[in-house]
Amino acid sequence: MSANVYGIDLGTCNLKIFCKGTGNVINEKNTIAIVNKNQLYAFGDDAYAMYEKAPDSIQVSFPVVNGVIADYNNMQMMIGELLEKYAKSHIKGAEFIVAVPTDITEVEKKAFFDLFYKSRFKPRSVLLCEKPIADAVGLDLDVNSPTGFMIVNIGADTTEISVISLGGLVLSDLLHFGGKRIDESIINYLKRNFSLVIGQKTAMHLKETLGCAIAQEEETAETIVGRDVVSGLPIEMQINSSIVYEAIKDPLNTICNSIKIILEKTPPELARDIIHSGIYITGGSSKIKRLDELFTEITNIRVNTCEYPEESAVRGLDKIVSDEKYRRLAFSMKTRIYK
Ligand SMILES: Nc1ncnc2c1ncn2[C@@H]1O[C@H](COP(=O)(O)OP(=O)(O)OP(=O)(O)O)[C@@H](O)[C@H]1O
Ligand SMILES: [Mg+2]
Repeated sequence: MSANVYGIDLGTCNLKIFCKGTGNVINEKNTIAIVNKNQLYAFGDDAYAMYEKAPDSIQVSFPVVNGVIADYNNMQMMIGELLEKYAKSHIKGAEFIVAVPTDITEVEKKAFFDLFYKSRFKPRSVLLCEKPIADAVGLDLDVNSPTGFMIVNIGADTTEISVISLGGLVLSDLLHFGGKRIDESIINYLKRNFSLVIGQKTAMHLKETLGCAIAQEEETAETIVGRDVVSGLPIEMQINSSIVYEAIKDPLNTICNSIKIILEKTPPELARDIIHSGIYITGGSSKIKRLDELFTEITNIRVNTCEYPEESAVRGLDKIVSDEKYRRLAFSMKTRIYK
């Protein structure tokens, strides 16, 4: 097995790359900063640091929206820079394996393929793999067995709920709903109830530090800075965890309801397997505290969490290209005929 193999998961919020040569996972914000219409100013975490802070002359944007490539040229520029930054001399003639959401159009899938196939790196091969399958392999599940597994990946812009068996997808639903929507709920809640306007980064910080899916008796608090709608001036305010709980409970219930709908559609023999093995949750937003307990409360099914939820797909891609028994799970856009 050659060392210049790269597993890539282009998320809405984070771009994850697995480099076979080094065995490292790179995780940078999927953000690009442009000046003069098309000149690269910064990318990755550096560009994200400029988000909501840049003057009009610098455009900071996210090239992936709702799980698909929305800005092809910027995405290509950014992935090229990132690969060069980390991989240095080994990219020419490399093999790429890219995770793609399931419930997207063929044209959208082709964009993921072309991004590498038509890149200046002249790849040896470009393979695609459905994200839920990559997640399952990354979670060490025996995907080739005739056993049903339910995987729920809650990312930044998307939540993908899938039932897989025998290395294929039996049911799958891609919701345009994830961590960003939860951040927006916090922003709206504080504006409505406290006349406080906060930025997306502050909302995300509140969610990650205070957010909990179940009402807690013990309160924690954070002091944040926002703008008072009435006076128009910046103010400091202490936000308690119960406030964040109230703000995020509705979007979390939406995810619960979608899981229930997929469970209702699951064939009974596979449902039996899922009850036996539990639901697997992954993706960065699965780190919301006690989310597993909330899902169990609603579905009556045990929920399994994992250690590196943002990276499960990219770690799965590595196993898929390295292990012969999983390799058939990847496909090339050149050989596969689409429905
Ligand atoms: N501790 C935490 N608590 C709650 N949410 C978190 C935590 N850590 C990260 N997140 C959220 O996880 C999301 C990013 O996760 P991930 O990297 O899986 O998304 P993505 O792959 O970029 O998005 P998508 O899969 O929707 O395209 C962000 O919305 C972030 O706020
Ligand atoms: Mg993701």
